[in-house]
Amino acid sequence: MRIVLLGAPGAGKGTQAVILAEKLNVPHISTGDIFRSNIANGTELGKKAKEYIDKGELVPDEVTIGIVRDRLEKPDCKNGFILDGFPRTIPQAECLDEILESMGTPLEYVVDIDVDDEYIIKRLSGRRVCPGCGASYHITNNPPAKPGICDKCGTEIIQRKDDNEETVLNRLKTYHLQTEPLIDYYRKQGKLISVDGRLNIEDTTRSILKAVGVI
Ligand code: AP5
Repeated sequence: MRIVLLGAPGAGKGTQAVILAEKLNVPHISTGDIFRSNIANGTELGKKAKEYIDKGELVPDEVTIGIVRDRLEKPDCKNGFILDGFPRTIPQAECLDEILESMGTPLEYVVDIDVDDEYIIKRLSGRRVCPGCGASYHITNNPPAKPGICDKCGTEIIQRKDDNEETVLNRLKTYHLQTEPLIDYYRKQGKLISVDGRLNIEDTTRSILKAVGVI
């Protein structure tokens, strides 16, 4: 199954992508995770991406599109993928359509996880992530079993640098301006599914699986 997850920062794309990728047995591709791992490893791409991410702006399309193209050509994407955080602009969406058309595997579903801005701010201020394995938690909605410690790898969990209030507000502004227009873009293609992302994690997963015909 070839699925894009759309939604504001903190809507729950990453949380749902991990669950769906496991259930559907397809890779989870997150451009945010790719950038963060490059930042952690001090690569040239990481240095460039950091300039934008720290301000809550988008990394330029010419950088981002090439990364996704290379990733989609890998053999593990043959049976599908969950794209999380890409596309985020109309040019990215147009390029994605071209890439997938040329591979003969067009996108099947675009799931918009709909959450109001006020929820987003609460979610992101409580989010904690594991610098070891990338697992994501929330101090009240989705806490680890042992406070402050990752369930999966035992590393101490931290707050993401771009989850401070000023950057979150900027990320939301960027989302409304540059990414929200994709909802109409995919609606016109007949691929859009909208789910209520204010539900709890399990119920959100259930509505996505129902909408894509898995349950
Ligand atoms: P990215 O990492 O993609 O960040 P984002 O889109 O801002 O999304 P988040 O990871 O913040 O949130 P999410 O929707 O995954 O929510 P999560 O599941 O963690 O990108 C980071 C940066 O990289 C961007 O700002 C940009 O600069 C750059 N970038 C990335 N892709 C790019 C692109 N294509 N083009 C250009 N630049 C790009 O959930 C959030 C919290 O809520 C968690 O604590 C979670 O536990 C909790 N939670 C989740 N679901 C629920 C629920 N249903 N109920 C209650 N709590 C929940």
